[in-house]
Amino acid sequence: MKAMNELMLHFMQDIYYAEKLGVRSMAKMAKAVESRELKEAILAHREQSQHHIERLDQVFEALGKRAKGKTCAAMNGLVEEGEEAVDEFEDGPVLDAALIACGQAIEHYEIARYGAMVAWAKQLGLTEAAGLLQQTLDEEKANDALLNDIAKRATNPAAAEEESDDEDEDDEMKSDAPKAKKKPAKK
Ligand SMILES: [Fe+2]
Ligand SMILES: [Fe+2]
Repeated sequence: MKAMNELMLHFMQDIYYAEKLGVRSMAKMAKAVESRELKEAILAHREQSQHHIERLDQVFEALGKRAKGKTCAAMNGLVEEGEEAVDEFEDGPVLDAALIACGQAIEHYEIARYGAMVAWAKQLGLTEAAGLLQQTLDEEKANDALLNDIAKRATNPAAAEEESDDEDEDDEMKSDAPKAKKKPAKK
């Protein structure tokens, strides 16, 4: 087996794990968001991700390898950030805005990985695999753009209207200011 095939296989296992974790995570995220439009977008991408997994199965086959995932620390971390946001913010537009940002971080990760794998598949002459991975790459990009649109058009304006009910927040800000002043000026 060529070294580049091995490289490809390594990233395939990584993204296979990431996609499967993404499917589980998106079910939770869809429950946590308030906006119906956003909920539907997340569930539609979850459905799409099932096809991403099927395409990966086909690419594994093209590589002559058994489909299997390998823990992806990056995806674990990105999903964890989304879960932290759910714990930290109350349901509503602010949490929705946070979860869009977390969702986009996941899309960007996937775009980076699928982009590299499309290029490698082409280099290795795996034309069919490159085509399958490109289809997924296009869908990840479209989902990123959709999330961006929802954020700018609906979620962010709604989040900006929300009043904070965290009473400590103002005090914290005030107490931070003098502390910052006491710091010796850097030269
Ligand atoms: Fe995906
Ligand atoms: Fe995705």
